[in-house]
Amino acid sequence: MKHKKINLLLSFIKGNRRNYIIAILFMILATMTSLINPLIIKLAVDSVIDKQPVSLTGVFLSMFNNIGGRDVLINNLWILGCLLILISVFNGIFNFLSKKYIAIVSERTAKNMRNKLYDHIQYLSYSYHVKVDTGDLIQRCTSDLDKIRRFISQQLMEIIRALTLISTALAIMLSLNVNLSIVSFVVTPIIVFVAFKFFKFIKIKFKETDEAEGKMTTVLQENLNSMRIVRAFAKQDYETDKFNKASKKFKETDFVVSKLMAWYWGATDFICDVQLGAILILGTVWATKGLLTIGTLLAFMAYSHNMIWPIRNLGRVLADMGKASVSLNRISEIFDEIGEDIDLESGLTPKINGEISFDHVSFEYEEGKPVLNDVTFHIEKGQTIAILGGTGAGKTTLVNLLVRLFDVKSGAVTIDGINVKDINRKWLRKKIGIVLQEPFLFSRTIKENIAFSNYNATEEQIESACRVASIYNVIRHFDKGFDTMVGEKGVTLSGGQKQRVAIARTLLNNHSILIFDDSLSAVDVETDAYIRDQLKKNLHSTTTLIISHRISTLKQADKILVIEKGMITQQGTHYELIREQGLYKEVFDIQSSLQSDTTKGGETRE
Ligand code: GTP
Ligand code: MG
Repeated sequence: MKHKKINLLLSFIKGNRRNYIIAILFMILATMTSLINPLIIKLAVDSVIDKQPVSLTGVFLSMFNNIGGRDVLINNLWILGCLLILISVFNGIFNFLSKKYIAIVSERTAKNMRNKLYDHIQYLSYSYHVKVDTGDLIQRCTSDLDKIRRFISQQLMEIIRALTLISTALAIMLSLNVNLSIVSFVVTPIIVFVAFKFFKFIKIKFKETDEAEGKMTTVLQENLNSMRIVRAFAKQDYETDKFNKASKKFKETDFVVSKLMAWYWGATDFICDVQLGAILILGTVWATKGLLTIGTLLAFMAYSHNMIWPIRNLGRVLADMGKASVSLNRISEIFDEIGEDIDLESGLTPKINGEISFDHVSFEYEEGKPVLNDVTFHIEKGQTIAILGGTGAGKTTLVNLLVRLFDVKSGAVTIDGINVKDINRKWLRKKIGIVLQEPFLFSRTIKENIAFSNYNATEEQIESACRVASIYNVIRHFDKGFDTMVGEKGVTLSGGQKQRVAIARTLLNNHSILIFDDSLSAVDVETDAYIRDQLKKNLHSTTTLIISHRISTLKQADKILVIEKGMITQQGTHYELIREQGLYKEVFDIQSSLQSDTTKGGETRE
């Protein structure tokens, strides 16, 4: 599992590894140069102010003596000043370069991750998208990704920096004074241990906070999407209350984390101050006894001070790493979901004529709750089939199985004698056009919405599809015609208009099979008849499945299937079925007694 996560992380920085290494190298250089200044201060205090010999050995000492030794320094104090400035300049340059490269890595990695994840999500099975919580998914794609980005660009760098700082400073301090080094580092393991324990503990809390945040986002998102219905039912108070609860839960879990953090900072603050105090006291005692020089004490104070922040921060970084590790888990969960089209090349890509067979098909979304039960029927190529059934009977499910949004549990769905399970999904969906029961239009222009099914379509093709769908005149009367924006920033289309735009979108491709899932329910009877008439003229060789509750629509089909509680209870033509006792006759009798459907009127047809 760990191995897999590391691989995932590595795949995110793929192509950026060189920049990453450069950033790390510059950071190590910057950290090391930042440790030189206390040594210069020590030199000034011990060998310029005081008369101590310069604490250099071997080659460095002879080099120092060759250029004039201590006397040169005493007579030219500016050298030390310049040295301090020079080192600061180098430190600045190294820091800048490190930050520059890490910024490149950070942005590119974020882009890499986003694209990879988005790409993967596009190909996840429909059943995954049905069950997944959208708010939670959005959170994984945004804040979880950001946590991983920060882990790569900040936390990992912080850890390397802290380790470089500690090891280099330790080496320098040991070379200056072993006893004081021991005092300086005695509490470091305690702090690191406390930090580590704390980080392990707080990981659970972070997960709780994340989940609470995800739930809150879901409530918010759902509410924004359902604003109309909330208003219509005057349920604002109820919704506000629901959001308040989710928000309160998030606040509470987040508060617990903040409280724990405050404890952590307070406790480590105290331990660090104890350490500084110990160095000052023991250092002073030893200095007065002549066991160490004042310059060394000052250098130790400086080093210890320099190290307090990174060591204490180590705890925070580790805790943040906990967050990143949770986020990485959450993201790898998505990558673990097998995409339905991962292997796009797999499966047959046969020419599809449009002969459809359902052979003893059963299906259930959830174990033990059958939705389709032993469904068997046959449709010849080019036939028009109508399906009638009560709500929840399984009509949409039947269609879903045909295009493999779900796969059958038992039995077989075949097209031209080939089991759909053997046909490449992409190919299958290209050949079968569906007008969904609840058409979704993007917040784009009408033209873009229609061309969604075929970006290569010409203007003429789009217009002709719109004419067939009886929506051309409506669009033409909009100020910007086909370039009118739909949705949040544009016009709000009526239910029937949306359905017709969705029909035009589907018609733009030449499909061998066309499915209308209750797609004319919001269109008046006359327009419905007109559209069907147009379809008939344009699509004579296309197998057409129409799900409808209108007898006027159903009666024209070559065959009508009546589906009740997941079972086909009647099959036949209109004239056969009105002679049988059953649902079809019941619906027919009711609708005939109503004389005629109420026509809505209004818009002109083509
Ligand atoms: P209408 O569109 O209302 O006319 O009904 P339908 O005949 O199209 O029904 P559909 O095939 O959508 O649903 C049949 C049954 O399956 C119903 O009991 C639904 O509750 C159930 N169902 C539909 N979609 C899902 C799903 O994605 N998950 C689960 N668990 N159940 C589902
Ligand atoms: Mg349906």
